[in-house]
Amino acid sequence: MNAKIIDGKAFAATVRDRVAGTVERLKAEAGITPGLAVVLVGEDPASEVYVRNKGKATLEAGMNSYEHKLDADTPEPELLALIARLNADPAVHGILVQLPLPPHLDPDVVINAIDPAKDVDGFHISNVGLLGTGQKSMVPCTPLGCLLMLREHHGSLSGLNAVIVGRSNIVGKPMAQLLLGDSCTVTIAHSRTRNLAEICRNADILIAAVGRPEMIPGDWVKPGATVIDVGINRIPHPRDKGKTRLVGDVDFDSAAAVAGAVTPVPGGVGPMTIACLLANTVTACSRAHG
Ligand code: GUN
Repeated sequence: MNAKIIDGKAFAATVRDRVAGTVERLKAEAGITPGLAVVLVGEDPASEVYVRNKGKATLEAGMNSYEHKLDADTPEPELLALIARLNADPAVHGILVQLPLPPHLDPDVVINAIDPAKDVDGFHISNVGLLGTGQKSMVPCTPLGCLLMLREHHGSLSGLNAVIVGRSNIVGKPMAQLLLGDSCTVTIAHSRTRNLAEICRNADILIAAVGRPEMIPGDWVKPGATVIDVGINRIPHPRDKGKTRLVGDVDFDSAAAVAGAVTPVPGGVGPMTIACLLANTVTACSRAHG
């Protein structure tokens, strides 16, 4: 293996320390404690784990955490009424509605009901538009975490050829906007892209965000490239029957033999996503009181 392993867990710890320092200052100098409200509808086990981890990290950073767990059959007006209360609550600086929502709830309606200034996910249509036009916005946590790791590794990203595999609203599209903002040449590839392997081989920065386990092999990676693996896929363990293991969208071993740097799964992008959520909450709080 030649690649440097980008330690997202260690980098996330430094971001979280910085957030905790800002929280201390806000408390000491302004008497304000930032607060994050997380709303979970239904009992999706993966979402329950994410929400628990977010709540724990929020408290560890010295902030207030408000968890709202609603039944899977909660009517949309009831969820919208909760969001309206959180929008009006001065103790709540950030609001996150965990996705996916049960099928009877329209995620666009729900997300766009959140006050854009409290939209720490950066999914509200106003924040999407602000990001797309290079204005001050709330930036989606996963792409922001990827950008911070890339800046840390490369310094300047200017002029680099970035290929993003995946066109989701949560990762692929905002990632493209952020990399454009840092003067990369950006390609978004997806399931219909022709010559995907060839396009990937041109990438100085290759970002995999497709949700397909180990889809990208090492021979799609340009020698020396930086590979950021956003995928978190649980697959059956190859030897241990009945057990599972977590893998990314990149075949780690073959990619690490070619790449200059690569993020592991777990321990890469995942911890940075939570750290950026905390950072966005403090940013929302500072702007609200600024
Ligand atoms: N579900 C998976 N990722 C995310 C995320 O970043 N934010 C929210 N709200 N839900 C998610």
